[in-house]
Order: sequence, then C-alpha cells, then structure tokens
Amino acid sequence: MELLTRFAQRFGAEPEGVWAAPGRVNLIGEHTDYNEGFALPFAIDRHTRAAARRRTDDTVRVASSAAGFAPVEIALDEADPEKIEGWAAYPLGVLLVLRGLGHRVPGLDIMVESEVPVGAGLSSSAALCCSVALAVNELAGLGLSPQALVEITRQAENQVAGAPTGPLDQSASLLGVRDAAVLLDCRTLAAEPLPLGLDAAGLTILVLDTRAEHAHCDGGYAARRAGCEQAARTLGVPALRDLTEDELTGRARHLLDPRSYRLVRHVVTENARVLETAALLESSGPGAIGPLLTASHASLRDDFQVSCAELDAAVEAALGAGALGARMTGGGFGGSAIALVPVPAAEAVAEAVTARFAVEGFAEPSVFAVRADEAAHRLL
Ligand code: GLA
Repeated sequence: MELLTRFAQRFGAEPEGVWAAPGRVNLIGEHTDYNEGFALPFAIDRHTRAAARRRTDDTVRVASSAAGFAPVEIALDEADPEKIEGWAAYPLGVLLVLRGLGHRVPGLDIMVESEVPVGAGLSSSAALCCSVALAVNELAGLGLSPQALVEITRQAENQVAGAPTGPLDQSASLLGVRDAAVLLDCRTLAAEPLPLGLDAAGLTILVLDTRAEHAHCDGGYAARRAGCEQAARTLGVPALRDLTEDELTGRARHLLDPRSYRLVRHVVTENARVLETAALLESSGPGAIGPLLTASHASLRDDFQVSCAELDAAVEAALGAGALGARMTGGGFGGSAIALVPVPAAEAVAEAVTARFAVEGFAEPSVFAVRADEAAHRLL
C-alpha cells in the first residue's frame, strides 16, 4: 500500500494502523440537518485513509499525499484552535476538540490519502476528520462510540475549521451501512439503515460532479443557516423541524417575510419528502423515488436558492437522457448532483451531461457511479 511507504518515508517508522472513512452522497434531505430534521444519506465507496502512530512527546505531525496539502507540525499543548489554517484544521481540529473535552490525546504522526474528490460536495472534509477520529479513538484507547465521534468530528468542523455544518456528513461516514441509506433524525442522531435495493431493481446512482467551486466557510451556507434560525425564532419553535405543514401554510405565511417564508417552505417540505422517500423505499423499492428527488432539487433551486447553473444543467440533462430522478447533493453552490438511473441508460446519461456542459461552456464534469458502502473502520 502506497500509504504505508509514504508514512515510512516521512516519519521513518511503520504506522500502528490504517483507518478508512468514506465520503457520502445525500440521497435526499438537504439543509434539513441543522434544522434538526431528517436526511437520508449513504456512505460511498470512496475513502480517506489515515495511517497513524503514537509518539512519546505531545507533538503532532500531519501530512497528506495530496498536492497542495503542506505538512504541519504542532505541539498539542501550545496549539491555538483559532490560528490553525488550511487543511490541517480538520485533523488537528479533531484532536483539539477531544482534548477540550478532557480526553487524553497523545502526540501522533499521521499520514492521509484520499479518493474523495475535494470540493465536490461529497464530504471529503468529514471523511478526513472521521478517519483521524477513528485512529485516535483506538490508539489512545478512548472507547468512544460512533455516535460520540459524530459529535466530535462535527465540532472540529464547526469550531476549528470554521464551517457551520450540521451532523449529516459525519453521521453518514461513521454510521453508514453497505447497500443501505441511513434515515437520520438529526435531532436525536438516531440512524436507521434502509436497504436501497438498487442492484435488484437494475438501478445505479451516478454522481455528476460539476467541478464548479464550492466551499462552506464562505457566506452562502452560513447565511441560509442563519435565515432558518431567525425564522424559527420568529415562529416561536425550537427548530424548523417543529413546524407542521399546516402551520407552514397558516401562520408562517403571515409572520414571515417572503424570502424567509421560502427558506422555511423548503425545510418543511424537504423533511416530508425524506419521510416519504423512506416509506416508498420500503414499500415499492428505489424505482419509485425518482420524482421526490427531482422535487427536492426544484425546492433547493427555487425556494432555498442554493443551486447554480451547472447543477441545474446537470439535473436537466440527466432527466432528459432517462434518469428517473436527479438532484443536487450536499450544500450546493457548486459541487455534485446525483442521478438515479436504470443501468442500461447510465452511459447515455453521462454523455448527455458532458455534452450539455460543453454547449454551455462549463468545465468538463466528472461522472461516476457510486455504491452505498459500510461505515468508517480500521483497515490494517
Ligand atoms: C453540507 C453540510 C451538511 C449539510 C449539507 C446540506 O454538506 O456539511 O451538514 O448541512 O451541506 O444538507
């Protein structure tokens, strides 16, 4: 394994183990997680791997095989979470959050490599945090449950990396189940695996990576989140999760300005779509959920306004070429869409999306199939 060679070259010793954490696709339930609602993500068959070894001092050295990810060395005792910048904020953030909670974290040498494309909306940052969290959990003998690690890795992203995300990505990476999506209740963090049954139905899920830039440390994501929290205060509910569909069409319409109303409408209808998708998966299989995926995209585009020209073009082209449903996945403003596609139509869908991007003058997209994979685990 190349990772082992790189580890030995950089740190002059063998790692004590290698831990792998998957990226994720969110099947449906977007911008619902920080509103304490529902989502239906799955872990994908693309991983970030962390090789790690304990040190005898309290120094941490992190390095990555990815170009542009410069190695970083810090003394844990002196590290100031506010001052850590760049990619290292994710792995170091995990260690600092653990220490902040009173856990004993040793010095470590860590080398990572990743197959999860960065900036594609497939949670490369959560995969990175979760691979490191598993490594330190085991090497330091912390004995924390996957659910506890969801909270810790999320805090690392929120507090150290400065991305105000919900628990969606970390939950998918740490609680995923092979060939299943996970119905997440983002209030309780309860996670129920629902078999996807894609193979039996002759279906596949394609990722349509638009390669359009996306980042959640800048304004758009935080602004939507703040808009939702303000609306919940105006409506006097703990979170938008608590608003019923009747209240949406009733008092919410009178109390909210038009822009806030549309944010809220997205969240309330999206929560309902998640539950409907889960029920349909169980009763009728994955071939029945396409229209809900496409309706989710329309709501994100028109009401929540987090789509972009590239995502809309990818969704339209996929639907035109035979996809049963398609939608942006993840935070939006770029990144990836997904399409639910009969296997025989997969090539035509990929070609149609690529051709549409050429006509529009967009960068060439990257289209590939993903499978629902198991949760983060020890590899070696
Ligand atoms: C990003 C965040 C998640 C979630 C999605 C939108 O992926 O990291 O917490 O809010 O956006 O559903």
